[in-house]
Amino acid sequence: MKKDYEFRPKILGFLCNWCCYAGADLCGISRYQYPPNMKVIRLMCSGRIDPQFIFKSFLNGMDGVFIGGCWPGECHYITEGNYLAISMIQVCKKLMALIGLNPERLRLEWVSASEGVRYAEVITDLDDTLKGLGPLGKGEDIDPETLKFRIETVMSLLPYIKLVERERMRVPLETEAAYHEYFASSEFEQMFQELIADKLAVCQIMALIREKPRSSAELSNLLGLPSSEISRHVNIAARQGMCRFDESKNLIAAAYHQDADESVAEAAAEVKPAALGNKKIDQIIDTYKGNPGALIHVLMEVQSENQWLPKEILTLISEKLDVPLGRVMQIASFYKTFRLTPKGRYEIHVCNGTSCHLRGSERLIASVQEMIGIRPGEMDADSKFSLETGNCLGCCTLGPEMIIDGAHHGRISPDKAQALLKNCA
Ligand code: FES
Ligand code: FES
Repeated sequence: MKKDYEFRPKILGFLCNWCCYAGADLCGISRYQYPPNMKVIRLMCSGRIDPQFIFKSFLNGMDGVFIGGCWPGECHYITEGNYLAISMIQVCKKLMALIGLNPERLRLEWVSASEGVRYAEVITDLDDTLKGLGPLGKGEDIDPETLKFRIETVMSLLPYIKLVERERMRVPLETEAAYHEYFASSEFEQMFQELIADKLAVCQIMALIREKPRSSAELSNLLGLPSSEISRHVNIAARQGMCRFDESKNLIAAAYHQDADESVAEAAAEVKPAALGNKKIDQIIDTYKGNPGALIHVLMEVQSENQWLPKEILTLISEKLDVPLGRVMQIASFYKTFRLTPKGRYEIHVCNGTSCHLRGSERLIASVQEMIGIRPGEMDADSKFSLETGNCLGCCTLGPEMIIDGAHHGRISPDKAQALLKNCA
Protein backbone atom coordinates (compact mmCIF):
# COMPACT_ATOMS: atom_id res chain seq x y z
CA MET A 1 0.00 0.00 0.00
CA LYS A 2 1.30 3.47 -0.84
CA LYS A 3 2.43 5.32 2.29
CA ASP A 4 1.52 8.99 2.82
CA TYR A 5 4.54 11.24 2.56
CA GLU A 6 5.46 12.68 5.94
CA PHE A 7 7.25 16.00 5.90
CA ARG A 8 10.52 15.86 7.84
CA PRO A 9 11.94 19.34 8.36
CA LYS A 10 15.61 19.82 7.61
CA ILE A 11 17.19 21.62 10.56
CA LEU A 12 20.67 23.03 10.96
CA GLY A 13 21.86 23.53 14.53
CA PHE A 14 24.69 25.77 15.71
CA LEU A 15 25.64 24.66 19.23
CA CYS A 16 27.98 26.32 21.67
CA ASN A 17 30.81 23.93 22.51
CA TRP A 18 30.71 24.41 26.28
CA CYS A 19 27.04 23.97 27.16
CA CYS A 20 24.57 23.07 24.45
CA TYR A 21 26.90 20.72 22.58
CA ALA A 22 27.74 18.97 25.85
CA GLY A 23 23.98 18.85 26.62
CA ALA A 24 23.37 17.23 23.23
CA ASP A 25 26.11 14.73 23.97
CA LEU A 26 24.56 13.87 27.33
CA CYS A 27 21.17 13.53 25.66
CA GLY A 28 22.60 10.93 23.27
CA ILE A 29 24.54 9.04 25.95
CA SER A 30 21.42 8.96 28.16
CA ARG A 31 19.40 7.50 25.24
CA TYR A 32 16.75 10.22 25.33
CA GLN A 33 14.61 10.18 22.20
CA TYR A 34 14.61 13.23 19.92
CA PRO A 35 14.16 13.80 16.16
CA PRO A 36 17.29 12.82 14.24
CA ASN A 37 16.81 15.33 11.42
CA MET A 38 19.05 18.09 12.74
CA LYS A 39 22.62 18.47 11.47
CA VAL A 40 24.93 20.04 14.01
CA ILE A 41 27.75 22.54 13.66
CA ARG A 42 29.79 23.22 16.77
CA LEU A 43 30.74 26.81 17.59
CA MET A 44 32.85 27.96 20.51
CA CYS A 45 30.11 30.36 21.66
CA SER A 46 26.60 31.28 20.54
CA GLY A 47 27.93 34.85 20.12
CA ARG A 48 29.88 33.54 17.10
CA ILE A 49 26.63 33.13 15.15
CA ASP A 50 26.65 35.26 12.04
CA PRO A 51 23.47 36.19 10.12
CA GLN A 52 25.27 34.91 7.03
CA PHE A 53 25.14 31.37 8.53
CA ILE A 54 21.40 31.68 9.10
CA PHE A 55 20.36 33.02 5.70
CA LYS A 56 22.81 30.75 3.86
CA SER A 57 21.16 27.81 5.65
CA PHE A 58 17.74 28.90 4.42
CA LEU A 59 19.12 29.53 0.94
CA ASN A 60 20.48 25.99 0.93
CA GLY A 61 17.06 24.57 1.72
CA MET A 62 16.98 24.24 5.51
CA ASP A 63 13.48 24.49 6.95
CA GLY A 64 14.68 25.66 10.34
CA VAL A 65 17.79 26.89 12.13
CA PHE A 66 18.56 26.22 15.78
CA ILE A 67 21.09 28.07 17.91
CA GLY A 68 21.95 26.65 21.32
CA GLY A 69 24.02 28.50 23.90
CA CYS A 70 24.85 28.65 27.59
CA TRP A 71 22.29 30.18 29.94
CA PRO A 72 22.54 33.98 30.26
CA GLY A 73 25.23 34.86 32.77
CA GLU A 74 26.99 31.52 32.17
CA CYS A 75 28.74 32.23 28.88
CA HIS A 76 32.34 31.03 29.10
CA TYR A 77 33.75 34.25 27.62
CA ILE A 78 33.97 37.72 29.17
CA THR A 79 32.22 39.11 26.08
CA GLU A 80 28.98 37.39 27.24
CA GLY A 81 28.45 36.07 23.73
CA ASN A 82 24.93 34.78 24.41
CA TYR A 83 23.67 38.35 24.89
CA LEU A 84 25.21 39.24 21.52
CA ALA A 85 23.38 36.22 20.10
CA ILE A 86 20.03 37.50 21.45
CA SER A 87 20.57 40.81 19.69
CA MET A 88 21.59 39.27 16.36
CA ILE A 89 18.81 36.67 16.41
CA GLN A 90 16.18 39.35 17.06
CA VAL A 91 17.40 41.33 14.04
CA CYS A 92 17.41 38.14 11.92
CA LYS A 93 13.86 37.30 12.99
CA LYS A 94 12.70 40.78 12.00
CA LEU A 95 14.45 40.39 8.64
CA MET A 96 12.76 37.04 8.12
CA ALA A 97 9.35 38.55 8.82
CA LEU A 98 10.17 41.35 6.39
CA ILE A 99 10.81 38.94 3.52
CA GLY A 100 7.76 36.86 4.36
CA LEU A 101 9.42 33.95 6.20
CA ASN A 102 7.99 32.77 9.48
CA PRO A 103 10.41 33.89 12.26
CA GLU A 104 9.56 30.73 14.19
CA ARG A 105 11.83 28.88 11.80
CA LEU A 106 14.73 30.37 13.71
CA ARG A 107 15.13 29.46 17.36
CA LEU A 108 17.61 30.41 20.07
CA GLU A 109 17.61 28.29 23.26
CA TRP A 110 19.78 27.91 26.32
CA VAL A 111 20.81 24.36 27.27
CA SER A 112 23.44 23.64 29.90
CA ALA A 113 25.84 20.66 29.82
CA SER A 114 23.72 18.80 32.37
CA GLU A 115 20.39 19.34 30.59
CA GLY A 116 20.25 16.37 28.23
CA VAL A 117 16.49 16.08 28.75
CA ARG A 118 15.95 19.75 27.96
CA TYR A 119 17.94 19.36 24.75
CA ALA A 120 15.64 16.51 23.66
CA GLU A 121 12.59 18.62 24.56
CA VAL A 122 13.59 21.77 22.68
CA ILE A 123 14.61 19.88 19.53
CA THR A 124 11.35 17.88 19.58
CA ASP A 125 9.38 21.07 20.05
CA LEU A 126 11.22 22.83 17.21
CA ASP A 127 10.66 19.82 14.95
CA ASP A 128 6.92 19.86 15.76
CA THR A 129 6.71 23.60 15.08
CA LEU A 130 8.44 23.21 11.72
CA LYS A 131 6.19 20.29 10.79
CA GLY A 132 3.25 22.59 11.47
CA LEU A 133 4.79 25.37 9.32
CA GLY A 134 5.59 23.08 6.38
CA PRO A 135 8.59 23.25 4.02
CA LEU A 136 10.41 26.57 3.72
CA GLY A 137 8.71 28.78 1.15
CA LYS A 138 5.80 26.41 0.54
CA GLY A 139 4.60 26.99 4.08
CA GLU A 140 4.65 30.74 3.44
CA ASP A 141 3.22 30.47 -0.07
CA ILE A 142 6.34 31.92 -1.68
CA ASP A 143 7.56 30.39 -4.93
CA PRO A 144 11.20 29.16 -5.00
CA GLU A 145 12.42 31.88 -7.39
CA THR A 146 10.96 34.68 -5.25
CA LEU A 147 12.27 33.07 -2.10
CA LYS A 148 15.78 32.85 -3.55
CA PHE A 149 15.60 36.48 -4.70
CA ARG A 150 14.46 37.69 -1.28
CA ILE A 151 17.07 35.75 0.69
CA GLU A 152 19.83 36.82 -1.69
CA THR A 153 18.96 40.50 -1.38
CA VAL A 154 19.04 40.20 2.41
CA MET A 155 22.42 38.48 2.15
CA SER A 156 23.79 41.22 -0.08
CA LEU A 157 22.91 43.73 2.63
CA LEU A 158 24.34 41.72 5.56
CA PRO A 159 27.67 43.57 5.92
CA TYR A 160 25.69 46.80 6.36
CA ILE A 161 23.14 45.15 8.68
CA LYS A 162 25.88 43.73 10.90
CA LEU A 163 27.47 47.16 11.18
CA VAL A 164 24.15 48.82 12.05
CA GLU A 165 23.32 46.11 14.57
CA ARG A 166 26.70 46.53 16.26
CA GLU A 167 26.89 50.32 16.19
CA ARG A 168 23.27 51.43 16.62
CA MET A 169 21.07 48.61 17.88
CA ARG A 170 23.16 46.74 20.40
CA VAL A 171 22.58 47.91 23.98
CA PRO A 172 24.44 46.83 27.11
CA LEU A 173 21.58 45.31 29.13
CA GLU A 174 21.97 43.07 32.15
CA THR A 175 19.14 40.56 31.81
CA GLU A 176 17.46 38.55 29.10
CA ALA A 177 14.07 40.06 30.00
CA ALA A 178 15.49 43.57 29.48
CA TYR A 179 16.66 42.52 26.01
CA HIS A 180 13.24 41.18 25.07
CA GLU A 181 11.60 44.36 26.35
CA TYR A 182 13.99 46.49 24.30
CA PHE A 183 13.46 44.49 21.10
CA ALA A 184 9.69 44.73 21.50
CA SER A 185 9.84 48.51 22.00
CA SER A 186 8.67 51.11 19.50
CA GLU A 187 12.11 52.71 19.70
CA PHE A 188 13.71 49.57 18.26
CA GLU A 189 10.89 49.17 15.73
CA GLN A 190 11.43 52.69 14.39
CA MET A 191 15.18 52.22 14.21
CA PHE A 192 14.75 48.92 12.38
CA GLN A 193 12.34 50.49 9.92
CA GLU A 194 14.56 53.46 9.15
CA LEU A 195 17.95 51.80 9.15
CA ILE A 196 17.23 48.36 7.77
CA ALA A 197 13.73 47.87 6.31
CA ASP A 198 13.90 50.92 4.03
CA LYS A 199 17.40 50.03 2.90
CA LEU A 200 16.31 46.47 2.12
CA ALA A 201 13.36 47.69 0.05
CA VAL A 202 15.67 49.99 -1.98
CA CYS A 203 18.05 47.06 -2.40
CA GLN A 204 15.25 44.83 -3.71
CA ILE A 205 14.03 47.52 -6.11
CA MET A 206 17.57 48.06 -7.40
CA ALA A 207 18.06 44.31 -7.91
CA LEU A 208 14.85 44.16 -9.95
CA ILE A 209 15.56 47.18 -12.13
CA ARG A 210 19.09 45.96 -12.74
CA GLU A 211 17.53 42.95 -14.47
CA LYS A 212 15.48 45.21 -16.77
CA PRO A 213 13.67 48.56 -16.63
CA ARG A 214 10.31 48.21 -14.86
CA SER A 215 7.27 50.31 -14.05
CA SER A 216 6.36 51.11 -10.45
CA ALA A 217 3.18 49.01 -10.79
CA GLU A 218 5.33 46.02 -11.76
CA LEU A 219 7.67 46.64 -8.82
CA SER A 220 4.71 46.93 -6.49
CA ASN A 221 3.40 43.58 -7.77
CA LEU A 222 6.71 41.77 -7.54
CA LEU A 223 7.60 43.01 -4.07
CA GLY A 224 4.09 42.92 -2.63
CA LEU A 225 4.47 46.52 -1.45
CA PRO A 226 1.87 49.27 -1.88
CA SER A 227 2.64 51.69 -4.69
CA SER A 228 3.09 54.54 -2.21
CA GLU A 229 5.93 52.57 -0.58
CA ILE A 230 7.52 51.91 -3.97
CA SER A 231 7.31 55.60 -4.77
CA ARG A 232 8.92 56.50 -1.41
CA HIS A 233 11.79 54.05 -1.93
CA VAL A 234 12.31 55.06 -5.55
CA ASN A 235 12.52 58.64 -4.30
CA ILE A 236 15.30 57.63 -1.90
CA ALA A 237 17.13 55.80 -4.71
CA ALA A 238 16.73 58.79 -7.05
CA ARG A 239 18.10 61.18 -4.40
CA GLN A 240 21.21 59.02 -4.29
CA GLY A 241 21.47 59.01 -8.08
CA MET A 242 20.84 55.26 -8.29
CA CYS A 243 18.01 55.18 -10.84
CA ARG A 244 16.72 56.87 -13.98
CA PHE A 245 13.23 57.48 -15.34
CA ASP A 246 11.38 57.58 -18.61
CA GLU A 247 8.17 59.36 -17.67
CA SER A 248 6.59 58.86 -21.11
CA LYS A 249 6.89 55.05 -20.86
CA ASN A 250 6.54 55.07 -17.06
CA LEU A 251 9.74 53.04 -16.65
CA ILE A 252 12.47 53.07 -14.04
CA ALA A 253 15.99 51.81 -14.81
CA ALA A 254 19.14 51.45 -12.75
CA ALA A 255 21.64 54.27 -13.27
CA TYR A 256 24.64 51.93 -13.33
CA HIS A 257 25.03 48.53 -14.91
CA GLN A 258 28.45 47.22 -14.06
CA ASP A 259 28.85 43.54 -14.97
CA ALA A 260 25.47 43.47 -16.70
CA ASP A 261 25.19 41.73 -20.06
CA GLU A 262 24.84 43.87 -23.16
CA SER A 263 21.10 43.44 -23.70
CA VAL A 264 20.37 44.65 -20.16
CA ALA A 265 22.59 47.71 -20.58
CA GLU A 266 20.97 48.44 -23.96
CA ALA A 267 17.43 48.21 -22.54
CA ALA A 268 18.44 50.54 -19.71
CA ALA A 269 19.99 53.00 -22.17
CA GLU A 270 16.58 53.26 -23.87
CA VAL A 271 15.15 54.69 -20.65
CA LYS A 272 15.56 58.41 -21.15
CA PRO A 273 13.71 61.34 -19.60
CA ALA A 274 11.64 63.47 -21.99
CA ALA A 275 13.67 66.52 -20.94
CA LEU A 276 16.71 65.31 -22.90
CA GLY A 277 16.75 67.19 -26.17
CA ASN A 278 14.26 69.83 -24.95
CA LYS A 279 15.50 73.03 -26.66
CA LYS A 280 14.12 75.34 -23.98
CA ILE A 281 16.02 73.52 -21.26
CA ASP A 282 19.22 73.58 -23.34
CA GLN A 283 18.74 77.30 -23.75
CA ILE A 284 18.31 77.87 -19.99
CA ILE A 285 21.49 75.94 -19.25
CA ASP A 286 23.45 77.64 -22.03
CA THR A 287 22.49 81.08 -20.70
CA TYR A 288 24.39 80.36 -17.48
CA LYS A 289 27.31 78.48 -19.04
CA GLY A 290 30.47 78.73 -16.92
CA ASN A 291 28.63 80.46 -14.06
CA PRO A 292 28.72 78.14 -11.02
CA GLY A 293 27.04 80.78 -8.80
CA ALA A 294 23.83 80.45 -10.82
CA LEU A 295 23.35 76.77 -9.91
CA ILE A 296 20.20 77.12 -7.77
CA HIS A 297 18.68 79.57 -10.21
CA VAL A 298 19.25 77.18 -13.14
CA LEU A 299 17.81 74.26 -11.18
CA MET A 300 14.68 76.27 -10.43
CA GLU A 301 14.24 77.42 -14.03
CA VAL A 302 14.73 73.92 -15.42
CA GLN A 303 12.30 72.49 -12.89
CA SER A 304 9.66 75.06 -13.71
CA GLU A 305 10.00 74.04 -17.38
CA ASN A 306 10.14 70.25 -16.85
CA GLN A 307 8.39 69.78 -13.45
CA TRP A 308 11.27 67.62 -12.20
CA LEU A 309 15.06 67.26 -12.47
CA PRO A 310 16.31 64.12 -14.25
CA LYS A 311 19.80 62.86 -13.46
CA GLU A 312 20.86 63.34 -17.10
CA ILE A 313 19.93 67.03 -16.94
CA LEU A 314 21.78 67.44 -13.65
CA THR A 315 24.86 65.96 -15.33
CA LEU A 316 24.48 68.44 -18.19
CA ILE A 317 24.12 71.33 -15.72
CA SER A 318 27.23 70.13 -13.90
CA GLU A 319 29.26 70.12 -17.13
CA LYS A 320 28.00 73.41 -18.51
CA LEU A 321 28.14 75.41 -15.26
CA ASP A 322 31.43 73.79 -14.29
CA VAL A 323 30.16 72.56 -10.92
CA PRO A 324 31.10 69.03 -9.73
CA LEU A 325 28.17 66.61 -10.15
CA GLY A 326 28.39 65.71 -6.45
CA ARG A 327 27.72 69.35 -5.54
CA VAL A 328 24.79 69.55 -7.98
CA MET A 329 23.29 66.37 -6.49
CA GLN A 330 23.89 67.70 -2.98
CA ILE A 331 21.95 70.91 -3.69
CA ALA A 332 19.18 69.17 -5.66
CA SER A 333 18.62 66.57 -2.95
CA PHE A 334 18.96 69.00 -0.01
CA TYR A 335 16.16 71.41 -0.91
CA LYS A 336 12.70 69.92 -0.67
CA THR A 337 11.52 72.14 -3.46
CA PHE A 338 13.55 70.19 -6.04
CA ARG A 339 12.04 66.99 -7.39
CA LEU A 340 14.28 64.16 -8.54
CA THR A 341 11.42 61.93 -9.64
CA PRO A 342 8.69 62.58 -12.23
CA LYS A 343 5.29 63.89 -11.20
CA GLY A 344 1.97 62.23 -11.80
CA ARG A 345 -0.32 63.47 -14.59
CA TYR A 346 -2.35 65.24 -11.90
CA GLU A 347 -0.33 67.16 -9.40
CA ILE A 348 -2.21 67.71 -6.17
CA HIS A 349 -1.07 70.28 -3.69
CA VAL A 350 -2.86 70.66 -0.36
CA CYS A 351 -2.03 73.69 1.76
CA ASN A 352 -1.07 72.94 5.34
CA GLY A 353 -0.26 76.52 6.36
CA THR A 354 -1.48 77.90 9.69
CA SER A 355 -4.74 79.34 8.41
CA CYS A 356 -5.66 76.25 6.37
CA HIS A 357 -4.58 74.02 9.25
CA LEU A 358 -7.02 75.81 11.57
CA ARG A 359 -9.73 75.32 8.97
CA GLY A 360 -9.27 71.55 8.80
CA SER A 361 -6.53 70.87 6.21
CA GLU A 362 -5.37 67.85 8.23
CA ARG A 363 -8.68 66.07 7.60
CA LEU A 364 -8.53 67.11 3.96
CA ILE A 365 -5.01 65.68 3.52
CA ALA A 366 -6.03 62.42 5.23
CA SER A 367 -9.04 62.08 2.95
CA VAL A 368 -7.01 62.80 -0.22
CA GLN A 369 -4.35 60.31 0.91
CA GLU A 370 -6.97 57.67 1.49
CA MET A 371 -8.52 58.22 -1.89
CA ILE A 372 -5.40 58.18 -4.05
CA GLY A 373 -3.40 55.83 -1.80
CA ILE A 374 -0.19 57.85 -1.54
CA ARG A 375 1.43 60.12 1.00
CA PRO A 376 2.91 63.60 0.44
CA GLY A 377 6.00 63.48 -1.76
CA GLU A 378 4.84 60.30 -3.52
CA MET A 379 3.36 59.30 -6.86
CA ASP A 380 0.93 56.43 -7.45
CA ALA A 381 1.80 53.32 -9.45
CA ASP A 382 -0.03 54.48 -12.60
CA SER A 383 1.75 57.87 -12.54
CA LYS A 384 -1.68 59.45 -12.36
CA PHE A 385 -1.43 61.43 -9.13
CA SER A 386 1.38 62.96 -7.16
CA LEU A 387 0.71 64.61 -3.84
CA GLU A 388 2.47 67.48 -2.12
CA THR A 389 1.68 69.44 1.00
CA GLY A 390 3.21 72.76 1.90
CA ASN A 391 2.80 76.15 3.43
CA CYS A 392 0.60 79.06 2.43
CA LEU A 393 -0.62 79.15 -1.16
CA GLY A 394 -1.63 82.81 -0.76
CA CYS A 395 -5.42 82.44 -0.45
CA CYS A 396 -5.70 82.07 3.33
CA THR A 397 -9.25 83.42 3.59
CA LEU A 398 -10.38 80.67 1.23
CA GLY A 399 -8.76 77.84 3.21
CA PRO A 400 -8.48 74.97 3.28
CA GLU A 401 -6.96 75.37 -0.12
CA MET A 402 -6.10 72.69 -2.65
CA ILE A 403 -4.60 72.86 -6.14
CA ILE A 404 -5.30 70.15 -8.72
CA ASP A 405 -3.15 70.48 -11.80
CA GLY A 406 -2.74 74.23 -11.40
CA ALA A 407 -6.42 74.96 -10.67
CA HIS A 408 -7.10 76.46 -7.22
CA HIS A 409 -10.01 75.15 -5.15
CA GLY A 410 -10.90 77.07 -1.99
CA ARG A 411 -13.04 76.23 1.08
CA ILE A 412 -12.79 72.62 0.11
CA SER A 413 -14.22 69.84 2.25
CA PRO A 414 -12.99 66.21 2.16
CA ASP A 415 -16.18 65.19 0.28
CA LYS A 416 -15.76 67.95 -2.27
CA ALA A 417 -12.10 66.96 -2.76
CA GLN A 418 -13.08 63.33 -3.36
CA ALA A 419 -15.67 64.41 -5.93
CA LEU A 420 -13.06 66.53 -7.75
CA LEU A 421 -10.52 63.71 -7.76
CA LYS A 422 -13.07 61.27 -9.16
CA ASN A 423 -13.42 63.59 -12.15
CA CYS A 424 -9.74 63.28 -13.01
CA ALA A 425 -9.71 60.96 -15.99
S1 FES B 1 30.30 29.98 25.63
FE1 FES B 1 28.34 29.16 25.47
S2 FES B 1 27.22 30.86 24.83
FE2 FES B 1 29.17 31.68 25.11
S1 FES C 1 -2.48 79.09 4.82
FE1 FES C 1 -3.36 77.98 3.24
S2 FES C 1 -3.48 79.42 1.67
FE2 FES C 1 -2.55 80.51 3.26
